[in-house]
Amino acid sequence: MRTDTPQTIYRKDYTAPSYLVDAVELGFDLDPARTVVANRLTLRRNDAAGTGGARREIELYGEELQLVAIRLNGKALGARDYAIDGALLRIPCDAQDVVLEIETICVPETNTTLSGLYVSNGNFYTQCEAEGFRRITYFPDRPDVMATYTVMLRADKRQFPVLLSNGNLIEEGDLPDGRHYALWEDPFKKPSYLFALVAASLVCQEETFPLQDGRRALLQVWVEEGNLDKTDYAMQSLKRSIRWDEERWNLELDLDRFMIVAVGDFNMGAMENKGLNIFNTKYVLANPRVATDVDFQGIEAVVGHEYFHNWTGNRVTCRDWFQLSLKEGLTVFRDQEFSADMIGTASGRAVTRIDQVRTLRQAQFPEDAGPMAHPVRPDSFVEINNFYTVTVYEKGAEVVRMYQTLLGRDGFRKGMDLYFARHDEQAVTCDDFRAAMADAGGRDLSQFERWYSQAGTPVVQAETHYDAERQTYTLRLVQSCPATPGQAGKLPFHIPVAVGLLGADGRDLPLTLDGVDLGTTAVLELVEADQSFVFGGVREQPTPSILRDFSAPVILKYGYSDAELVLLFSHDSDPVNRWEAGQRLAMGRLLKLAEDAAAGRSLDLDDVFVDAMRKMLVDASLDPAFREQALLLPSETMIADQMDVVDPMAIHMARQFVRADIGARLRSELRAQYDASQTPGEYSPDAESIGRRALKNLCLAYLCAAPDEAAIALARRQFDEAGNMTDRVAALGALVHARASSAVADAAAHADDALRRFYDEFQGEALVVDKWFAMQASAPTTDVAAVRALMTHPAFTLRNPNRARSLVSTFCGANPVGFHAPDGSGYAFWAESVIALDALNPQVASRLARAMDRWRRYAPALQKHMKKALQQVAGRATLSNDVREVVGKALA
Ligand code: ARG
Ligand code: ZN
Repeated sequence: MRTDTPQTIYRKDYTAPSYLVDAVELGFDLDPARTVVANRLTLRRNDAAGTGGARREIELYGEELQLVAIRLNGKALGARDYAIDGALLRIPCDAQDVVLEIETICVPETNTTLSGLYVSNGNFYTQCEAEGFRRITYFPDRPDVMATYTVMLRADKRQFPVLLSNGNLIEEGDLPDGRHYALWEDPFKKPSYLFALVAASLVCQEETFPLQDGRRALLQVWVEEGNLDKTDYAMQSLKRSIRWDEERWNLELDLDRFMIVAVGDFNMGAMENKGLNIFNTKYVLANPRVATDVDFQGIEAVVGHEYFHNWTGNRVTCRDWFQLSLKEGLTVFRDQEFSADMIGTASGRAVTRIDQVRTLRQAQFPEDAGPMAHPVRPDSFVEINNFYTVTVYEKGAEVVRMYQTLLGRDGFRKGMDLYFARHDEQAVTCDDFRAAMADAGGRDLSQFERWYSQAGTPVVQAETHYDAERQTYTLRLVQSCPATPGQAGKLPFHIPVAVGLLGADGRDLPLTLDGVDLGTTAVLELVEADQSFVFGGVREQPTPSILRDFSAPVILKYGYSDAELVLLFSHDSDPVNRWEAGQRLAMGRLLKLAEDAAAGRSLDLDDVFVDAMRKMLVDASLDPAFREQALLLPSETMIADQMDVVDPMAIHMARQFVRADIGARLRSELRAQYDASQTPGEYSPDAESIGRRALKNLCLAYLCAAPDEAAIALARRQFDEAGNMTDRVAALGALVHARASSAVADAAAHADDALRRFYDEFQGEALVVDKWFAMQASAPTTDVAAVRALMTHPAFTLRNPNRARSLVSTFCGANPVGFHAPDGSGYAFWAESVIALDALNPQVASRLARAMDRWRRYAPALQKHMKKALQQVAGRATLSNDVREVVGKALA
C-alpha cells in the first residue's frame, strides 16, 4: 500500500543488468508466522552493461522483508555498505565475481496479496510472476536475469508432509524436532518469476509417461485430500499436451518430472513455474458431478497453456515485462491450436475460432477503446500486474495467428524452429520473434511491427463494385484506427484479409487476381490506407465474404443488405463468416430495438430474421455445436460497444424481447430440437456431446425466455434428473432467469426452491458454491440489495479471490441491469468493494476497478454517479499502485 505518487516505468528506459546471476542456492525454514530465507547468489559482472560513467552497483529488489544479514564475498556488510530506497537495495561493487549471501524473514500467514510466499488453507504456496520473488528474498528480480536454482526446504513433517520445488528431487530426510527436509535442483536456467515452492498436506495422482525420445517422465497432479476423484481430466489433458507439443512443434519435455498443484486461493488461472505448475483449483478439479462442459474445456486449455509455456516462456523468456506478449500471445495461440486440434473436425475448429472472436469482441475491443487501451507491447506502465490483459493475451494471440496466415502453416513452423534455434535459454523481445518469422519466410515484416506498437482496433471499411461488362469485381478496402491514450495518429497496419465470393446459389466462385488463380479463398494483404483489389473473370454479381476465419483482429464495415446476409448465413463455406452473418443480422435488429425501447415504442421482430433462425435451428446437416453458436445473440456488452451513448436498460429490454420472441415463435421447433439433442448414456466431455448439450440447453433457455408452464416444468425436470453439472446448472439458470415471469404461477418459488436445493447438495464443493453465487449475481432480477444480502451468507468471503469474483465481480461486470441502476447504487457498491478488496488483495481489487473503464460512454445521468464513485476511490489516501493506475486512467 503506497501513499506517494506511483512511478511510471517506460520501455525506452530499459538497461541491461549490471550483474548477472549464475547460480542461486536458497534455504527455507518454513513457518507460517516467521519464515527464514537464506539466499546465496553467485554473481558475475555484466560488462555488456555500461554504467554511464556512474560507479557500478549490484541492484536487488525486496518488498515486505525483514533484512537480517548480507555478506559479500564472505564479508558482513554494515548499513553503510549499501542503500535501500523503497524496494531497491543497491550495493556499490565492481568485482568481476561475487558471492552474495542474504538472510531475510517474511510472514506468509499475513500475506493476503497471494503474491510471493503465502498460506492457503494451512499450506504454503508461491506466486512469483510478475514481481513476487522480491517478496521472498532480495534478488535482481527481472526476467533477463536467468540462473540455476538449488532449493532446500525445511518444515514441520506432520503439518507439511509434501515439500516441492522446481526441477528434480535430489534428497529428502528427517530433521530433529519433528521437522524434515527436501533438496531440489533445477538444471535449467530460469528467471526468478518461474521459481516456486509448495509445502503442504496434499495427495497426488501420478504416472510415468513415455516421451518421444524414449525417456519416461513422472507426471503428478497434487490436490487436497478429498479431491482425488477430480484429477483425472487434468492428468489426461497434461498427457495430451505433451504429445501434441512433440507432434506439432517437435518440442519435448526437458525434465524428468512435471508437477501440477491445485490451490484454492489464487489470483489468476494458473502459473507455469518450471516443472511445478501451480493452478487455481478451478482449472484442475473436475468430474461430471461438479464440473460443466465449459469447465472441462477450460481445464484442457489451461493445462495445455501452462505446459506449452515450458518452451514459449521458460526456455525462451522475456527480456522485460513490456515483452509479456512474446510469451503470452504466443502461448495463447498455441493453446488455441491445441484445443482446435483435439477436436479435429473442421467444424469443431470453427466453433473454437468463433469462441475466440466472441472473447475479443466481448472484452478486448472494449479494452482497446477505453482508458486502459495499450499496445500488445506496452510502452509504459505503473503496475505490471495491470497488464495481464486481453490485449496482451488474446490480441497478442491474434497477432501470432496473423504470421501463420501470412506465411502459411509451413512457413510459420520454420519461423518457430528458427526462433528456438536462435534464442534457446535467452531472454528476448517481440522484435526477435518477428525477425525469426521474417528471416525464415524471407519476407519483409517491418510494417507488421505496428501491431505491437499501436493500440486501438483497426477499422476496415469495404466497398465493392461489379462491372458486368468487363466481368471484374473491385474490392476497395480503407483502413483507419481511432486515437487511443497517448497515440493520436496511427499509421496503416499490415492486415491479412481473407476473402471469398459467393454466387447467387451460395457456392464459392473461383478467384482470379492479376491473372493468378487463387482458389476460393484469397488472403489479400492490405498495407495501404486505401487499396483496391480487382478480381477478374467474375461472371455474376457476387456476395463478398470478407475477413474469413476472422483473419485479422479488426472491425469490418460493409453495407450488407439483409438478403446478402441471409445468403451468407445459409451458405458461406467459411463457417466463421457464416456465423458472422447471423451476428450481423441480429445486431442490426438489436440496435434498432434498443432505440425503440429507449423511446418507449412498441417492439417488433421481423419474419426475415426469425425465419433465418428457424432454418439454422432445424438444419440437421450442421453440427449442433455450430448451430448453438449461430443461434446465440450478441451479448449486452457487445451491443453496448456499438452504441455512442449506452443505455443498459434499453439494451437489456431489446435483447430480452428478441429472446422471448424467438422462444415463443419457434416454440415447437425448440422443443423438438431439445428432445433430439439428448446425450443418452454416460457423461463424456467430448466435442460432439458438448455440442449437443449446448444446443439442447440453448433451446431450454429460449423456451424459458418466454416461459409457459410447460417450459418451466421442462426446466424443473431437467434440474431434478440431471446426471451432470452442465445440465443441472443450465436448468437452474433457466429457472433463475425466469424468476420474474408473470406468465407462470410461482415462477419465483420455482427459482428459489432450485437454488436452495442446489446449495444444499453442493455446499461442500467450493467451486460449485462459486457457481451458485455467480448465477444469482448475474441474474437481471438481482439488485444491489440482494447482493449485499448474499454477502452476509456464511459461505461468502472477500478473502478468497474465486469467491469474491463470483459475487462482487460478476455483479459489477456481468449484470448490466443491476449494476447500472439509475440511482447509482451499483456504483457506490463498486467503490466500497474496490476499497475493501484493495486492503486485502490489490490484484483482485484492480480487476474489479476496471468494471468502470467505459464510464464516459453512458448517458449523462449515469455518468454523474459513475464519476462520483471513481473519485471516491481515487481520493483515498492509501491505495495500491494497481488500483490507483486504473482509476487514475479512467478519470484522466
Ligand atoms: N503466466 C501466467 C499465465 O498466463 C499468469 C500469471 C499472472 N500473474 C500475475 N501476477 N498477473 O499462464
Ligand atoms: Zn500464460
